Amino acid sequence: MTNDSSARIVAGLRAWIATAAPGTRLPSTRALVAEYGASPVTVQKALRTLAAQGAVEARPGVGTFVRAVRTARAHDHGWQTAALGAAPSRAPRPSAALRSAPNDVVALHSGYPDRELLPERLVRAAFARASRGGPAVARPPTAGLPELQAWFAAELGAATPTGVAPPAPGDVVVLPGSQSGLGAVCRALVGAGRPLLVESPTYWGVMLAAAQAGVRLEPVPSGPRGPDPDDLARAFERTGARVFYAQPNFANPTGALWPAGLAERVLGVVREYGAFLVEDDWAHDFGITADPVPIAARDDSGHVVYLRSLTKSVSPAVRVAGVVARGPVRERLLGDVRAESLYVSGVLQAAALDVVTQPAWRTHLRGLRRQLAARRDLLAAALREHAPAARLDAVPQGGLHLWARLPDTTDLPTLVRDCEADGVLVAPGDEWFPAEPAGAYLRLNYSGPDPGAFPTAARTIAHALTRQA
Ligand SMILES: Cc1ncc(COP(=O)(O)O)c(C=O)c1O
Repeated sequence: MTNDSSARIVAGLRAWIATAAPGTRLPSTRALVAEYGASPVTVQKALRTLAAQGAVEARPGVGTFVRAVRTARAHDHGWQTAALGAAPSRAPRPSAALRSAPNDVVALHSGYPDRELLPERLVRAAFARASRGGPAVARPPTAGLPELQAWFAAELGAATPTGVAPPAPGDVVVLPGSQSGLGAVCRALVGAGRPLLVESPTYWGVMLAAAQAGVRLEPVPSGPRGPDPDDLARAFERTGARVFYAQPNFANPTGALWPAGLAERVLGVVREYGAFLVEDDWAHDFGITADPVPIAARDDSGHVVYLRSLTKSVSPAVRVAGVVARGPVRERLLGDVRAESLYVSGVLQAAALDVVTQPAWRTHLRGLRRQLAARRDLLAAALREHAPAARLDAVPQGGLHLWARLPDTTDLPTLVRDCEADGVLVAPGDEWFPAEPAGAYLRLNYSGPDPGAFPTAARTIAHALTRQA
């Protein structure tokens, strides 16, 4: 019924658009509801369909507009095929997590927290101060502003047990986001054609970086309690790899937190094979019922390369991360960063440092913990009540996502499309598997906008699953 009405509105509006000039504003949702005698949900669904077809463009908070039809002559770029040659690697499709969401959908797909969970007031004040200071007109050192290097080192040093030397500011290289650190690791530590051990499932961004650098991924199975050290040792033995990328704290996507004993055993295996552990501590600021303790804090022998990002907890616009690495490996990484980007904007570094050194930052993190707990529990409860077929094997103690297992027979692409047609964006779990997925999963972000819509979203997922039964 809804589908028919939506199709009727799409057909009607297509005829209207055909006679309208590009840039013309469409009638408001309220006017369309009255004209077609349909519900607002049906009208919005029709508008989404038209947007997906490229006929209209939604400008959030302003309205929906007729898109310009491109009549320009089609360029022939075919000559580039010969100039470029065969693609060196087959990069994965861009992740669903990177899609921008229109205002009228429930967005559970993204990897970043909603704006209302960010320290917005602190960020704006920090940018104002940074724009007035020296960094706005100066070139910082390649390794980063010394004060920010010192902050990253001190953060890790605070977790360092007695008997282990804490990192020094000079062990830090500031990066334009952890993603660029993953690229540097693939290029400078692993190298084209060489193997990189990764947990499976793992973060899709490391797969992207590896594909771009021509690095071969070797999966090590990992569950809610992390990988089995014996599996890891066998993988080192079998592949000759010398680098293992892992997320011991609140892994993306599973939310896994390694038990304390496992960290020590994994470190033991890594040392035994003369290898590096690349520890991606992406969710350091997102602990809920546990405080992450970086493995890097226990290692002063240079086996752990530690990545810490501020882009999710401070602001996606403050694109700053740090890598802590001791010994020659740090020089390798610095050389790569120099070749890739020379340095990170001093304004961004100064703004990041300003935010994380304000007393209000700690207060913000305490409030964030409460909000994440409430949202996590709300989404988990909504799934249990309305979509029990989307099973949660574990509720994470931190991070931003739930990892829901679906029935094995699920047709994941169809499910994701059906959810989207009903106004709910979800991320298909297969994007997090470096080889064949071990099952059908959804990654659901509980830190996005509008947690009040979680029950609706859970019902939509249940409905889409029922259609496949
Ligand atoms: C596990 C993990 N590592 C790294 C990144 C990239 O972080 P950044 O935004 O600092 O580049 C992300 C972002 O989603 C992530 O989830």
